[in-house]
Amino acid sequence: MVDRTEATKGGPVRFRADGPLEMIPVENGPLHLKGDLEILAASGELLERVAECWLCRCGQSGKKPFCDGTHRKVGFVAPGRAPVWK
Ligand code: FES
Repeated sequence: MVDRTEATKGGPVRFRADGPLEMIPVENGPLHLKGDLEILAASGELLERVAECWLCRCGQSGKKPFCDGTHRKVGFVAPGRAPVWK
């Protein structure tokens, strides 16, 4: 079980993965996660249990911690990378 907190412009996002995890920073966009995931609030409250999700990196989403596409409207710029973690 991986228990990790990722810093984003919208604040820290905590997630847990049971099994393999793929984490892909999308160029000028969100953090794409694939795996058996639990997304948690800072309080530890379970927000969602998913197999794949996109977490906001720009800090402008209307449904944080998830991306809602607003990064395109605000011209968010950030590097993308190959999967950084498995
Ligand atoms: S990365 Fe923030 S809305 Fe998509």
